Amino acid sequence: MGYKVVVAGATGNVGREMLNILAEREFPADEVVALASRRSLGTEVSYGDKTLKCKDIEGFDFSGYDIALFAIGSDATKQYAPIAAKAGCVVIDNSSLYRYDPEIPLVVPEVNPEAVDGYIKKNIIANPNCSTAQMVVALKPLHDRAKIKRVVVSTYQSVSGSGKEGIDELWDQTKGLYVPGQEKEPKKFTKQIAFNVIPHIDVFMEDGSTKEEWKMVAETKKIVDPAIKVTATCVRVPVFVGHSEAINLEFEEFLDEDEARDILREAPGILVVDKREDGGYVTPVECVGDYATFISRIRQDSTIENGLNLWCVSDNLRKGAALNAVQIAETLGKRCLKKG
Ligand SMILES: NC(=O)c1ccc[n+]([C@@H]2O[C@H](COP(=O)([O-])OP(=O)(O)OC[C@H]3O[C@@H](n4cnc5c(N)ncnc54)[C@H](OP(=O)(O)O)[C@@H]3O)[C@@H](O)[C@H]2O)c1
Repeated sequence: MGYKVVVAGATGNVGREMLNILAEREFPADEVVALASRRSLGTEVSYGDKTLKCKDIEGFDFSGYDIALFAIGSDATKQYAPIAAKAGCVVIDNSSLYRYDPEIPLVVPEVNPEAVDGYIKKNIIANPNCSTAQMVVALKPLHDRAKIKRVVVSTYQSVSGSGKEGIDELWDQTKGLYVPGQEKEPKKFTKQIAFNVIPHIDVFMEDGSTKEEWKMVAETKKIVDPAIKVTATCVRVPVFVGHSEAINLEFEEFLDEDEARDILREAPGILVVDKREDGGYVTPVECVGDYATFISRIRQDSTIENGLNLWCVSDNLRKGAALNAVQIAETLGKRCLKKG
C-alpha cells in the first residue's frame, strides 16, 4: 500500500523534476497524477518508465489523494491549494505564497524535519526559495557547533530559477547575438542576460533590497534560527541550471577551517569538494542532476574574529525545489501520514 500523489505543474521545470525524483527515489506511490493548466491538457510527461497524460487542475477532485506537490506559481497556488487542502490532501508548495505564514511550516528536511508535524494546522507545508534551501543545508551543522551571528551572501543564480521562459530567453538571446536578424530583446529579464549578469531578482522593496534578497533573510530565520542576521545580494547569471553562492559567516565562537570541513563532510545532504588546486572546487555545470549541496573553498576570514568563507553550489531545480519537496513528502510519510 502506497500513497496517492498529485504533481501540479507537471509540465514545468520543477514539476518534471518532481516526477523524475519520485521515480528515482522509488517514492511509495500507488498512483501519481500529473496536473497543469488547461493549455497542457493531454500533454505527455515522464514518470520513470511510464508516461502520464496531464489533466487540467481546474475542477480536479483532490479527495482521496494523500499528497499534492505544487509547482504552479503563487497566483494559481492561491486558487487551488486551499481546495486540495480542504479535500484532505497535504499540499507541499514550491511558491512563496505560504512561506511566511506562522501557521505553515517551512521545511528543509536536513535542517528542521520536526517542523513537518505542523502541517496539521492547514494541511499545507511550504518549500523554501531555491537559494535559501541550499544555503541553510550548509549553515545548520556549522551553527550547531559555533553559533552563526551573521551571514553575508552573494548569489549567482541560474536562469532556470525563473521558469521555462528564463531558459528560453538565455538560449534565444545567445543565438541572436551570433545570427543576424535573430536578435532578442530582454523580456523575462530586465536587461540582456546573455554574456551578462543582472543584480536584480524579483521586485524591489522599500529599503532598496529585492524580494529575493528579503526571502533569504526571512526564510533563514524561520528555518534555522531567528537570531541569525543575514544580508544578501542576489544576482542572475547566464547559467542554465545550478545556483552558486559565496557565503561569509561570522560565528560567536572560533571555528577552525579544518574542523568546519570535517563537520560539513559528515553533514546530511552535503558533499565537500575542496582541494586547493586548479579545478579543486565545484561549479554549477557539475552539480546538474545531483542531489547534493556541494561545498568548496572553505577558508578562514581573517578580517574578523570568528569568520569563515565558503562556496556553495547546488541544482536549483532539485535541492532548490523538487528534491526538497519530495524529501518533505518522505519525512511526512515517516513521521505523520499512514499509507493507503
Ligand atoms: N525553478 C526554480 O528553481 C524554483 C525553485 C523554487 C521554487 N520554484 C517555484 O516553483 C514554481 C514553478 O516553477 P517552474 O520553474 O517549474 O516554472 P515553469 O517551468 O514556468 O512551469 C510552470 C508550471 O505551472 C503551471 N501553471 C502555470 N499557471 C497555471 C495555472 N493557472 N493553473 C495550473 N497550472 C499552471 C504550468 O502549466 P502549463 O505548462 O500548462 O502552463 C507549468 O506546469 C514557481 O512557484 C516557482 O517560484 C521554482
